[in-house]
Amino acid sequence: MTQAIVDIRPHESDLLAQIATVHIAEIPDGFLTSLGPAVLTDMYKTIAESEGSFIVACVTDDREILGFLAGSLGIRSLYREFLRLRGMRSMIRLGFALLSPSRMGRILETLRYSTSDEDAKNLPRAEILNFCVARHGHRQGLGGQLMHASEDRFRSANIDRIRIVTGQSQLSAQSFYKKIGANYVCDVEIHSGTLSTMFTWEISAEESHPELQRQSLSLDPTRDTEGQS
Ligand SMILES: CC(C)(COP(=O)(O)OP(=O)(O)OC[C@H]1O[C@@H](n2cnc3c(N)ncnc32)[C@H](O)[C@@H]1OP(=O)(O)O)[C@@H](O)C(=O)NCCC(=O)NCCS
Repeated sequence: MTQAIVDIRPHESDLLAQIATVHIAEIPDGFLTSLGPAVLTDMYKTIAESEGSFIVACVTDDREILGFLAGSLGIRSLYREFLRLRGMRSMIRLGFALLSPSRMGRILETLRYSTSDEDAKNLPRAEILNFCVARHGHRQGLGGQLMHASEDRFRSANIDRIRIVTGQSQLSAQSFYKKIGANYVCDVEIHSGTLSTMFTWEISAEESHPELQRQSLSLDPTRDTEGQS
């Protein structure tokens, strides 16, 4: 079996559904997981479709997703694109998923986090949205390969630093980010009662993996500054 790191396109519905499945399996207690596979698949389709975001994934030659990393130049423009790109069906799905008051509360907390005073803290807007390797692929270096592929995507958009937020209970991710030299910034309570850690990570100026398959992304870092003062 061979595998490669590739960019996921919005029409690759089978791969997007698998990405949602890997997400749910690897982050079982996460808020997004609680929204269900259909909403998550829609969300990843939007990320793949969005000009300011991308998904890189490790895919086998029989189209099994072993891991993926979703990144964005800024989450605000992604929310707008979700509203613009996804049809009424997705909105209805999302609406049903949010019928629970606790889920609605958590989405408001997420929105508050993403529109908080990042300028004052001099934090980069570009960030890793999510990053998972399927359990049977852990500790084989796939996470590292996906990070390097994302580094190339961010570099091509002239991004030199990104932010990463991960739950404090995500012990593998905490160890992973420390291992790759991410810088601890602070603890954040995005969802009431659940602590996360914020890191920043410097994007190296050198291309790391020129052999990786390229995507001609038109990531434009100015897109996420619309409407901000
Ligand atoms: C974080 C994650 C993507 C790492 O993927 P991976 O393919 O296993 O990572 P790698 O094999 O490249 O690991 C690189 C290094 O990270 C550290 N690391 C990774 N997983 C670890 C674990 N479970 N415990 C301790 N250290 C770990 C190690 O230092 C490892 O190097 P080593 O194996 O030589 O000791 C994977 O563990 C995962 O999917 N976790 C659950 C989902 C998650 O928390 N996502 C983060 C959301 S932001």
